[in-house]
Amino acid sequence: MTSELTQLEQNNIPKHVAFIMDGNGRWAKKQGQHRLFGHAAGVESVKEIIKTAREIGIEYLTMYAFSTENWNRPPEEVMGLMDLLVQAITNETDEMHKNGVRLLTIGDISALPESCIISLNNAIAKTANNTDLTLVLALNYSARWEITNACQMLAEKVKSGQLLSQEITESSISDVLNTAGIPDPELLIRTSGECRISNFLLWQLSYTELYFTPVHWPDFRREEFLKALTSYQQRERRFGMTSEQLNETK
Ligand code: FPP
Repeated sequence: MTSELTQLEQNNIPKHVAFIMDGNGRWAKKQGQHRLFGHAAGVESVKEIIKTAREIGIEYLTMYAFSTENWNRPPEEVMGLMDLLVQAITNETDEMHKNGVRLLTIGDISALPESCIISLNNAIAKTANNTDLTLVLALNYSARWEITNACQMLAEKVKSGQLLSQEITESSISDVLNTAGIPDPELLIRTSGECRISNFLLWQLSYTELYFTPVHWPDFRREEFLKALTSYQQRERRFGMTSEQLNETK
């Protein structure tokens, strides 16, 4: 372990960190380049964050790679992003597998181009038994869509007599979300200065610490990630309790 990593408190490493990877377009524009150049640089940040997370011992990373709302972008950007995704997944599957990374997706991937679905399904199947780190890509994902689906599934169960309405609990709702079985993130990082959640993991982020940085995603590399983790470690997570109560439970 390198010396910068040992400066993190080892007993306070988040299990799950979620990312809204924003600012690829602005980063590219600043250097007079096309937006897709920014997205390609963003893929390099994704790789560096995965590598760093493995070294630190973080177990889950969730990355907002394509929102339901992103379909509204110019068609050439949407197609460029999809091509980039296929390329990245195809090129990186072996490396992910070798490094014990398991790939999962959340969102409706059935609406993605067929080449994307094929490369994702291959990578998901190949890496299914890996246990070092789980990478969750949110693709064609929106939290309101996810919650609406969950309501429909529970309503169907009640209608068919499998469930009583009073048996609907926080945990039965969690169980029908796309993230079933994945712990809620302790930390959400959003790059590029915007301070909002943008329809991402609305249920799962209830108690999550939020970290906003002006750094654009292509510049968000190892050092910035360590800064975010250090900031997380300085926070007191009270879950509605007082500081005194928290100290008594320590
Ligand atoms: C937001 O920046 C970024 C996206 C909508 C796409 C993020 C996707 C990647 C980094 C590639 C994903 C690839 C893998 C393998 C996970 P923006 O375009 O909204 O930037 P702007 O706000 O500056 O315009």
